[in-house]
Amino acid sequence: MSHFRIDIRQRAEELVALYPRARSAMLPLLHLAQEQDGYLSDEGIAEVAELTATTPADVRGTASFYDMFHLEPVGKYVVGVCTNIACLLAGGEEMLEHASAQLGCPVGGTSSDGLFTLEESECLADCNIAPVVQVNHRFVRTTTPEAFDAMIEDLRAGRLDHDVPSHGMLIRVRRSSGLRAPHAEVAEQRAVAKEAREQRTNQETK
Ligand code: FES
Repeated sequence: MSHFRIDIRQRAEELVALYPRARSAMLPLLHLAQEQDGYLSDEGIAEVAELTATTPADVRGTASFYDMFHLEPVGKYVVGVCTNIACLLAGGEEMLEHASAQLGCPVGGTSSDGLFTLEESECLADCNIAPVVQVNHRFVRTTTPEAFDAMIEDLRAGRLDHDVPSHGMLIRVRRSSGLRAPHAEVAEQRAVAKEAREQRTNQETK
C-alpha cells in the first residue's frame, strides 16, 4: 500500500516516466515526499526507493547530501537566518540571536509548539537586503527584530499562508506545464533515440 497520497503518488509516477532511468527522478521525488510529510520519513524514503528501483540506503545517502532535505521532523516553518559576510556586517548574528530568543529554541532546534525550526544559513543570494531571513525557503524580507516579530505573529495567525507554504519546495513552484509529458509520447521518443543510437553503433563497428 502506498504511503504517498494519491495525488503525490500520481505526480511521482509522472516524474519517473520523464527520465530514461528511474533513479534520475530521485531528487524531485524526495521533494514530493517532503512536501507530504514535512520531512523525509522512513515510509517516504522507502517509497522513493521503490519508485526509483534503488534501496532506502541509496535514497538516504543522496538526501543527506542536500541541506534542503530534512531527515528528522522539523517545524511547520523552517526559519533560516543568514550570517554570511554581507548579513554578518548588517546584523545577521544579532538577528539570529533575536530569532532564537523570540522562538524559544536554539539554532538547529524547534520551538516547543512545534511550529518553528531555526537554522543558521550560508549566503542566500539576497545580500542587498541584509540581514536575510527565509521561511521555508521563501524570502520574507524582514531586516529588523521588530519586523521579524511581526512576521512570526503573521505566520502564527496564518496570514502568510498564501506566500509561505508550510512544507517542502514544490508547492508553489510546481510547473503546470512543461514537465508534464504524455507517457506514450516519451516512450515513443525514447524508442526513436534508441534506434538511432543502435544504427550509429552498427555503422561505427562496420
Ligand atoms: S551574505 Fe546573506 S544573503 Fe548573501
